[in-house]
Order: sequence, then C-alpha cells, then structure tokens
Amino acid sequence: MAIIKVENLVKRYNGLTAVDGISFEVEEGTIFGFLGPNGAGKTTTINVLCTLASATSGRALINGYDCARESSKVRKSIGIVFQDTTLDKDLTAYENLSFHAHLYGVKKSEIRGRVHDAIRFVDLFDRKDDLVKKFSGGMKRRLEVARGLIHRPRVLFLDEPTLGLDPQSRANLWEVITEMPKKHRVTIFMTTHYMEEAEVCGRIAIIDHGRIIAEGSPDELKKTVGGDVISLKTRDNEWSRGEISRLFNIHADEKEGELYLTSNRGDACIPDLIRGLGDMVVSVKLQRPTLNDVFLKLTGKAIRDEEGSGMSSIKEEVRAYRRRH
Ligand SMILES: Nc1ncnc2c1ncn2[C@@H]1O[C@H](COP(=O)(O)OP(=O)(O)OP(=O)(O)O)[C@@H](O)[C@H]1O
Ligand SMILES: [Mg+2]
Repeated sequence: MAIIKVENLVKRYNGLTAVDGISFEVEEGTIFGFLGPNGAGKTTTINVLCTLASATSGRALINGYDCARESSKVRKSIGIVFQDTTLDKDLTAYENLSFHAHLYGVKKSEIRGRVHDAIRFVDLFDRKDDLVKKFSGGMKRRLEVARGLIHRPRVLFLDEPTLGLDPQSRANLWEVITEMPKKHRVTIFMTTHYMEEAEVCGRIAIIDHGRIIAEGSPDELKKTVGGDVISLKTRDNEWSRGEISRLFNIHADEKEGELYLTSNRGDACIPDLIRGLGDMVVSVKLQRPTLNDVFLKLTGKAIRDEEGSGMSSIKEEVRAYRRRH
C-alpha cells in the first residue's frame, strides 16, 4: 500500500517555482530517500506534505488523507525532524518529549511510558533529566527522532537528520533510523546529502530544480550509469589482454600497469576471468558505480560531500573563503 501519494505537485513562491510538478509514491514500511542538490526543492516538498505550506497545484495524500483538506488527520499521521533543530534547550529531554505528547493529545496516563520507551530507543535514558542545552549535536538529533515517534506516526519525515554530525554520531543515529520501520512500523521519508546513507533506502527519488529526474532502488539507479568496472593486476598484461579478448570477446584497457574492463554483471564475470587467465592473475578488484556517480551524471554536480562528514566540507569552504578575503 502507498502511504504517501504525490500527484503533480507544484509549489511557487512569488514567481520562483520551487517544486515543479512532481509525482511519486512511497510504500508503507519502507525507507524512501529524497536526494537533490541545495535548493532543489526537498524541504519545500516536505513542508507541503507536512501541511506547513500549501501547494500551488497538484495533490498529496498521506495515510489516505489529503494534505490540503484534511490537515489535522495528516498531522496526526506524521512525525517530523526538521532540518534545523527545534528542541527547547531550557527544558530537559523528558520535558521536551512529554510536552510534545501533550500537544498531540496522548492520554495523560500513557505519556510517561511512551516517553521512556522513546528515550530508551535512542539510547538517552540515562540523560533524560538533563537540560537539552547540555547535549551534543548527535544527542539532540537522537532526541528529536524520539520526539518524532512519541505520537506513533505512520510516517516520519527526516530532513537532513545527520547533517553536521561527526561520523560516530551519524553511525549511531543511522542505526536508530534503520531499525524504525521494523520496531515502530513507521515509514521513513528522508533527505540526505550523504551517499552512504542513501544506500540503505529501498527507493530513492532524485530531485533537481524542482523536478524528479530519476527514481528507483539504489541498484537500479546505479545500473543507469554503466557497468561495473573490474581492474586486474596480472603477471603479463599483454598476454592477458589477448586472452580476455579471445575467450570473452571483451576489450580491456591498460592504465598504470592494470587492466580495466566493464561488465554489467561484474561479480558473475570474475570467476570466469580467473579460470580463463589462471595463475597469471595477481589481484582482482570490482568497483561498482556509486550513487554519487549517478548523482553526478544526472545533475552535473557532486552531492555535497562524497564520503567525509558534512563538517569537513563546511570547514574547507570556510578555509577557502578566508583565503579569498
Ligand atoms: N519560504 C520561501 N520563500 C521563498 N522562496 C523559498 C522559500 N522556501 C524555499 N524557497 C526557495 O525554494 C527553492 C527550494 O528550496 P528548498 O528549501 O526546498 O531546497 P532544498 O532542496 O531543501 O535545499 P537544501 O539542500 O539546501 O536544504 C530555493 O530556491 C529556495 O530559495
Ligand atoms: Mg532543505
């Protein structure tokens, strides 16, 4: 069943078309990744789906409810972790969550139990009575995820949930996120700039200039870039190239002492290659196209940061800015 349905959604702000006629569906119980460069329209789409902004035209349904006409039912069906933190820093972790539970009309008798469960889930139980202002960035993010789950939503929206976190906190939060569909029967709709996070999405839509330019599972998207690349170190490249051509009718390129060939099924091809070339093979490496390759090909831009943390790229930008001024 599709828990989110979006049909031809358009959002304009005074002449600027932020979202330009997008359509997609999200299956219940899955993790859906919404990727795109800065300003592509990701947060705007989330705002419309979460009833925080109205669409210029088109339609969005969540849990069967129309985001424009049944906003209160939509709101009860969703949880949100915003791109910028929205916790009250002068309250404790427990108070932040119980306040949220009150707002969402959770029964008084149930609040304590639910808050405790959610805080335990994100591994902050020992810190539940500490003021949020004493929390690290990663702890705040985890607490926001817990808050998003308090009213047992069907869909949880996560807008850049791990942006700016160190690798350890990201991994930590990421573990929490991937467990959610199973443990809380919630569907995740998330945006991220980190490719390795997008890898775990069941489906991904790539948005650029307000339009969806590609959609599919990570594997499907990678297949659109071209085949796997196999690189081979051999004792005799000349002989090996000849054999590869004779046996498999594949052309191998030689670069810096290694042979390179592409194949749509690299993993299936490697055993045949080794059988064919015998002990002439010194080592074999299989490189799959990454989601970053997909992104680069489709948008002409590298997603913000290939592997490192967001902070490192921000620091580099600051350094470059200082050098220029
Ligand atoms: N309230 C607003 N008023 C006017 N223009 C807006 C408003 N919100 C967003 N925009 C514009 O809409 C476009 C899409 O912005 P949006 O925040 O949806 O991008 P995004 O994909 O979330 O980017 P990022 O990766 O930087 O978070 C941008 O050009 C932005 O300037
Ligand atoms: Mg955004």
